Amino acid sequence: MSQGRVESMVDEVFNDRSVAVVTGASSGLGYAVASLFAQTGYQVVLVGRDPSRVTAAIERFPLDIAPFASGYACDVTDQNDVQKLFEFVKIQYGKLHVLVNCVGKSDRGLLQDISAKQMQHLFEVNVLSSLYCTQGALPLLEQSGGVVLNVGSLASKVGARYIGGYSTVKHALAGLTQQFRLELKHRGVHVCLLSPGPIKRSDEGQRYRDQVDSNLPDQANRPGGGTRVKGLSPEYVAQVALTMIQKRQADRVLPRYLRLLIAIGNMWPRIGDWLLLKFTSSKN
Ligand SMILES: NC(=O)c1ccc[n+]([C@@H]2O[C@H](COP(=O)([O-])OP(=O)(O)OC[C@H]3O[C@@H](n4cnc5c(N)ncnc54)[C@H](OP(=O)(O)O)[C@@H]3O)[C@@H](O)[C@H]2O)c1
Repeated sequence: MSQGRVESMVDEVFNDRSVAVVTGASSGLGYAVASLFAQTGYQVVLVGRDPSRVTAAIERFPLDIAPFASGYACDVTDQNDVQKLFEFVKIQYGKLHVLVNCVGKSDRGLLQDISAKQMQHLFEVNVLSSLYCTQGALPLLEQSGGVVLNVGSLASKVGARYIGGYSTVKHALAGLTQQFRLELKHRGVHVCLLSPGPIKRSDEGQRYRDQVDSNLPDQANRPGGGTRVKGLSPEYVAQVALTMIQKRQADRVLPRYLRLLIAIGNMWPRIGDWLLLKFTSSKN
């Protein structure tokens, strides 16, 4: 992979715009966030590992907002790469107002079967990526009194069937988010967590087909490991991310009604477990 600034049609820098870095922006939710932010007045840096996917993502932007986007290819699980990313942002824009840590990856399977290597990989992608980017962005965010938004999942808040590794590391991301929020408050930097349920996508039901152990039911391959929650549109989730940043909210769960389930589980764990198993029960 060639790391660094991605060639695009953009060479102009719009000094009046606030600057946002969105990791994992070449597809899925990250793309929806980057595109919404460019439409609502940000200069956006889209980050992904594959430069051609980043370029293609910017090319999918409507022509009127494409000038407000630039791309940078790097692996955010590599701390050196991340350092260079924020050096680029500093040199190119001299400021940063928002960091959206959207890189993340799910798995399929039971915790009892996961290997240390698989768990380490999930931890790097879902937790260390956010740690490195937040650390790297901090000097610029402190200057602007900026915001970090971490993209968690319902699995940051509760367990679920068939996504044991993912749930474990997304819980760690929730811990990292609160810890950073407490540590950085007096430095003027706000850190928040958005925990959406399954997000609609074109490859729904196919994505984990190769990963799913033949001993697991078909349900395991479905979004959220078969959680019976209606898929959210990426555009809606992106809109909530924007609101959280604008209003400096701390923590949102989507869909909203599931907050109740989470609260019940925190107060009465056995009832919470019973409800969770009901929400994720097999319809096969
Ligand atoms: N999809 C859902 O149903 C769902 C539900 C709840 C929460 N979430 C969370 O939402 C976030 C986005 O999920 P998604 O399904 O929309 O993602 P996705 O479509 O799989 O896209 C992942 C993005 O991250 C980039 N990426 C992956 N590893 C990277 C790395 N090491 N360094 C830099 N870029 C990297 C990918 O590009 P390259 O491969 O080119 O690097 C791509 O742009 C994740 O944190 C996920 O846990 C997703």
